[in-house]
Amino acid sequence: MIQLALRGAIYSLVDDPFLRDEAECVAYESDGLILLVDGAISAIGPYAELRDQLTAHTELRHYPNSILMPGFVDAHIHYAQVEIIGSFGTQLLEWLNKYTFPAEAKFVDVEHARRIADFFIAELQRNGTTCASVFCTSAPGSVDAIFEAAQRSNMLMLAGLMMMDSHAPAYLTDSAQASYDHSNHLIERWHKNGRCRYTVTPRFALTSSPEQLEMAGALMREHADVHLQSHISENRDEVARAAELYPQRKHYTDIYEHYGLLNERAIYGHGIHLSEGELRRFHATGASIAHCPTSNFFIGSGLFDIAKTKDAARPVKVGLGTDVGGGTSFSMLQTMSEAYKMAQLRGISVTPAQCYYLATLGSAEALGLDHRVGSLRAGCAGDVVVLDPRATPLLKLRADVAESLDELLFALMICADDRAVEATYVAGELVYEREAAA
Ligand code: GUN
Ligand code: ZN
Repeated sequence: MIQLALRGAIYSLVDDPFLRDEAECVAYESDGLILLVDGAISAIGPYAELRDQLTAHTELRHYPNSILMPGFVDAHIHYAQVEIIGSFGTQLLEWLNKYTFPAEAKFVDVEHARRIADFFIAELQRNGTTCASVFCTSAPGSVDAIFEAAQRSNMLMLAGLMMMDSHAPAYLTDSAQASYDHSNHLIERWHKNGRCRYTVTPRFALTSSPEQLEMAGALMREHADVHLQSHISENRDEVARAAELYPQRKHYTDIYEHYGLLNERAIYGHGIHLSEGELRRFHATGASIAHCPTSNFFIGSGLFDIAKTKDAARPVKVGLGTDVGGGTSFSMLQTMSEAYKMAQLRGISVTPAQCYYLATLGSAEALGLDHRVGSLRAGCAGDVVVLDPRATPLLKLRADVAESLDELLFALMICADDRAVEATYVAGELVYEREAAA
């Protein structure tokens, strides 16, 4: 029985506009209908064609002035870093020591972890993000807290224990064996528990011993469908330090590949300074990159080269991440805006369809979840964001002179933020609704 139906303009990507003709990648209905049964999309199409399926028991919600899209998928974010967002004056390695590690240390306190986890999930939903790949801390309770919070609204959540056993303060580090044991327990408890998915999470090569990377590889071998997330090649000092710590390895990517951590279940934050040879290994193994532009600008890490990374001769899968708290906004619209500007600095104008792709289907593909989220198709989860392209006086002025859908969507991603999120649905349930204007 159709329980809920959403009517409005519907915009969704069905394929990768970096690799294929854009017209084949965009699905748009100016007056569409999404029918939802048991948390999933049972049918989607023009309102005129599907209206007959509505019954007396269907709740119909009509958004005549808004655009329905797949909920945003944040491919890389740290929930334990929300309190240090916007911390002044450092680049990566100093930023980690000065701000990040002390903030993450607070998560041994389960009450603190729960409070921040609840805040974090609400903030994602206020920004129209319905799925995220989340870094926790090295405290196992931090993982329980985020999965418990996500489960309260049935949100598709990827998360895992931060594995770090070297070159970091003793209050945050564990041993290779302890991180393996804790990760194993957490996989048993959380992986595929509802919509939770476990992600093996070695922080990066600089804070893991060879033994710990070996253990992370063992977890990936022993659990056929858990995910993996880490960081790579974000900052030049970091790249140099990785080479010092692992002198036997050909390059940074080879460190992870050597330990069995480069495959189609793996996603790495940043990848700004990867060589052509490294990008080839990403392509060949099916590993993905999470592009995090607000973070790269803020921490001064460098300019990610989207055109080179997506080169059709050996494309690498790329998703979009906020990387809060190195990143400066939960808004995937703001993150698209910064991705556009970063590409501009490299002489490339990424199209609106490409930007919306990165924030939805691109991230879903990078996380191996595109059969369920990132697009609006029958069979996908009922994870939907309702965007109001006239949410502010400036947006209204701009939208009123837009002469095409592309122009409207582009101005929206450049100028909008959480104020444009009118409603967010997770698994067919309303989880956030913007307050009506006074
Ligand atoms: N590299 C290793 N850890 C981190 C982190 O917490 N944030 C960012 N931006 N990069 C990292
Ligand atoms: Zn990160």
